Amino acid sequence: MAADLEVHLAPSSYLAALRHDVRAGLTTEPKTLPPKYFYDARGSELFDEITRLPEYYPTRAESTILHEHADEIATLSQARTLVELGSGTSAKTRLLLRALTRAGTLHRFVPFDVDPVVLTDAAKTISTDFPLLSVEPVVGDFEEHLTLLPGGDRQLIAFLGSTIGNLEPVARGRFLRDVSSVLRPGDTFLLGTDLVKDVGRLQRAYDDSAGVTAEFNRNVLTVVNRELGADFDVTAFEHVAVWDAEHEWIEMRLRSSRDQVVHIADLDLDVRFAAGEEMRTEISAKFHPDGIADELGRVRLRVVRFWTDPDGDFGLSLATPMQ
Ligand code: SAH
Ligand code: AVI
Repeated sequence: MAADLEVHLAPSSYLAALRHDVRAGLTTEPKTLPPKYFYDARGSELFDEITRLPEYYPTRAESTILHEHADEIATLSQARTLVELGSGTSAKTRLLLRALTRAGTLHRFVPFDVDPVVLTDAAKTISTDFPLLSVEPVVGDFEEHLTLLPGGDRQLIAFLGSTIGNLEPVARGRFLRDVSSVLRPGDTFLLGTDLVKDVGRLQRAYDDSAGVTAEFNRNVLTVVNRELGADFDVTAFEHVAVWDAEHEWIEMRLRSSRDQVVHIADLDLDVRFAAGEEMRTEISAKFHPDGIADELGRVRLRVVRFWTDPDGDFGLSLATPMQ
């Protein structure tokens, strides 16, 4: 049965954070907006569409790994509680839920997401399909609220989809430290990471021919218009996706197609964009297996298994706290 949403990120705190981040991001050069604001109800729908695009391989690759290895993950983790960070629709997670149910250990599923709409829907359908499971959805920001998670013995914390790649390097280190600090002996961490590969394929995955990723990218402007009374002309910003070879990440940007001034009423702020100016909206870092193990090791997590799909596109690591 699905419990009520537990809310660690109340609408008022979400708005306060949005105000702070938008002011900070649009008053420094180059301008930036954090990717977590893509995900209102429409943004979550668009991401779900992205996962089915022919060019966007990560979701299919990670599903292939989970199909193949979910039972092994269940055996190794013996999890009683599965926490999923940035859970979205939890579509792939069903493979884990089935395996952990077959293994007979799982009692509780805690999907955790910043978007209450996608979370409520997912919790409802999962509790219908897994009637013996206690489904306890949490609205929160995984960069802020990990210490408020329910805990309990034999927790498996899953962070799928390579969402870790959307964190800036410093934030990524901090996030991994937070994860490590909530894990107890006997707990496990399952981390999905997209791997470095052919640049053409990477670029196409972030600039699809149907324009869904472009709409997803521009959705952040719609969110700022609605939540902060801004007047972004969404049609006056072009979607840009470039590979940054030095950092090994895809960068999504919005390019102003003309000189324009955007007014953000709630911040009492005017923001000038020059024609051609680019604002960064997301990084999506790509990884090497050694690098993942190093980053986990730095926060005292040891990789016990690492799997890839047959094409070597995506990696899934299962890690435990070092004693
Ligand atoms: N795990 C799913 C969804 C990935 S999309 C998959 O693998 O397909 C990224 C998800 O993380 C979205 O549902 C988004 O709402 C959520 N998200 C993004 N930033 C977040 C944050 N700071 N805290 C909590 N959830 C966040
Ligand atoms: C959620 N995250 C891992 C996606 C990614 O691939 O970085 C978000 C996304 N951005 C553009 N397409 C998908």
